[in-house]
Amino acid sequence: MGESDNKLPSGSRILDVMLEGGYEKDIVTTIYGPAGSGKTVLCLLCTLNVSISGKKVIYVDSEGGFSIERLKQISSHMGQDYKKVLDTIIFLMPTSFDEQKKSFEKLRGIVNEKIGLIVVDTIAMLYRLELGKNEEVYEVNRELSKQIAYLTEIARKNLIPVLITNQVYTDFGEKDKVNIVGGDILKYGSKCLLELQITPNGNRRCILRKHRSIAEEKEILFKIVEGGVIGTKESKGFKLF
Ligand SMILES: Nc1ncnc2c1ncn2[C@@H]1O[C@H](COP(=O)(O)OP(=O)(O)OP(=O)(O)O)[C@@H](O)[C@H]1O
Ligand SMILES: [Mg+2]
Repeated sequence: MGESDNKLPSGSRILDVMLEGGYEKDIVTTIYGPAGSGKTVLCLLCTLNVSISGKKVIYVDSEGGFSIERLKQISSHMGQDYKKVLDTIIFLMPTSFDEQKKSFEKLRGIVNEKIGLIVVDTIAMLYRLELGKNEEVYEVNRELSKQIAYLTEIARKNLIPVLITNQVYTDFGEKDKVNIVGGDILKYGSKCLLELQITPNGNRRCILRKHRSIAEEKEILFKIVEGGVIGTKESKGFKLF
């Protein structure tokens, strides 16, 4: 799917159908869901797409979730040499919440028109660690707000889409209701929210929870496969590819 002025194709056709072209370029999009729900694979698909288009990707990997093997699998399915793809990725690997903040501050200085995407996988991992050792919850939350504000500013000023992933937790007794780590800070900071779920039969569901110009609660179903993701027959109302 071609690139429009304000949307970046996600690297997944079924997701592009739901998002009417892809991720919006001037905002932060947050993808959240449980372990194994497909957050990283969606980041990799978009990374590849940007890389193929000739631009660079800044990939902030805060939990060592990036797998070269996985990139290799998806790249080869797209007929791409993963080494060339790797050459177009600039990795930042913060190991503390403070380092993460410094990475984002640094981003403001290094972004230019050659950068087509910024990925942060995952935003609240180091925040969670910081909350565990710092008693000043208010301070830690304020820092997280600042970090999101940096990313929002970068997206808006440079029209470089920022893709953030996040973890979830469930409230005791409310098994089906998930909460996003960092809660309202992330919800308000991201203009697009996508929730991923693992269905009982092992497919993945992606629900649009927030969007500026598309009706919310739209959803698609897909499977994770070696080459990335594919829409399933259950995705009613959407043309499948
Ligand atoms: N080659 C493959 N073929 C099919 N499925 C795969 C393949 N490689 C990984 N998967 C599946 O993809 C899922 C992991 O997806 P992904 O890494 O995107 O999840 P995640 O949401 O980022 O999880 P986490 O929170 O642990 O980082 C696992 O269920 C795994 O079985
Ligand atoms: Mg992951």
